Amino acid sequence: MLIHEIKKTPNQLLTTSKKIWFSCLLLAQTCFVIYLALGYGLTSVTTGISGWSLLNKTAYIANDPTGNLMYAAHVLLAIVMIIGGSLQLIPTLRVKYTKFHRYNGRLFVLLACTISLAGIYLMVIRGSVGSPLTQGLTIFGGCVIILSSIFAVRAAKTRNIKHHQIWAIRLYLAANGVLFFRLIIFAWFLLFGTLGIDTTTFTGPTVLAASICSYVLPLVIAELIRYAESTKNKVITIATASLMLFISIIFLIGLLSVVLAQWYTIIFS
Ligand code: HEM
Repeated sequence: MLIHEIKKTPNQLLTTSKKIWFSCLLLAQTCFVIYLALGYGLTSVTTGISGWSLLNKTAYIANDPTGNLMYAAHVLLAIVMIIGGSLQLIPTLRVKYTKFHRYNGRLFVLLACTISLAGIYLMVIRGSVGSPLTQGLTIFGGCVIILSSIFAVRAAKTRNIKHHQIWAIRLYLAANGVLFFRLIIFAWFLLFGTLGIDTTTFTGPTVLAASICSYVLPLVIAELIRYAESTKNKVITIATASLMLFISIIFLIGLLSVVLAQWYTIIFS
C-alpha cells in the first residue's frame, strides 16, 4: 500500500501543480475581466467609445468606424469569452451539466473565432506596435484558435472525447495567449526593467521571447504534460510539475506588476 502511494507521488505532484497554475490563471483572468469591464464596458456607457483612447491609443480613431467596430467587438466579446472559457475546464460542471458544457462550448468557439478575426483585421489594417515577427506570432495565435476550434468541434460531434480534449486545451491556451503575454512581459518589467526592449517601438529580443513563450511554448508544454502524465520516468514528471510551479510564480509576479503599473492606474487615475 505504502509503495503504491509512493509510486503515485510524482503524478499527484503534477496534478497539484496544474491546479496551482490554473488557480493563478483564474486570478489573472478575474483581474483582466474587471479591467476590461470597468475600462471598456463602463466607459462605453459613460463617455462613449472615444473615451477608450485613455486605455489604448489605438482603440478609437475618429474617421475609422469599421476599425472602431472591430476594436469594440474585440475587447467587449473578450469579457464574455474569458469567463466562459474557464468554466469549460471545471470537471464538475463538465460532467454534471453536459448541456451547459455543450452550449457554452459553442459560444466560446464562436466568440474566440470572432475575436481572432477582428484582432487579425486590427493588426493588418489598422496596424499595431511590435516587429513583423512578434505581430506574426500574435497572428499565429489567432490561427491556432480558429484551427483548434474546428478540430475540437469536429471531435465533439463524432464523440471522440480524447481528441476533443486535446484540441479544446490547445484552443484554451491559444485564446489566453494575449493574457500570457501581458503576464510574462510585466513580470520581466518588474524583475529586469526594460532590458532587451525598445520601448518606443516595442521591439527587441525580450518582446520576441515573450511572444514565443505566450503563443508557442504553452502548446509545447501541453504536449509535455500529456507525456509526463503517462511516462514511468519520474524525473520527467517531477520536472514538468516544477515547470508548472515556476510558471505559476511568473504569472503571480506578472499579475502584480500589470495590475499596479497598468490596469489599476488606468481605471482609477
Ligand atoms: C482571442 C484572444 C484575444 C483576446 C482575449 C484579446 C484581447 C484584447 C484586448 C483586451 C485588447 C485591448 C488592449 C488593452 O486595453 O490592454 C486587445 C487589443 C488588440 N488585439 Fe487582441 N485579443 C485576442 C486575440 C488577438 C489576436 C489573435 C490578434 C491579432 C492577430 C489581436 C490583435 C489585437 C490588436 C491589434 C489590438 C490593438 C492594440 C494593439 O495594437 O496592441 N488580438 N486584444
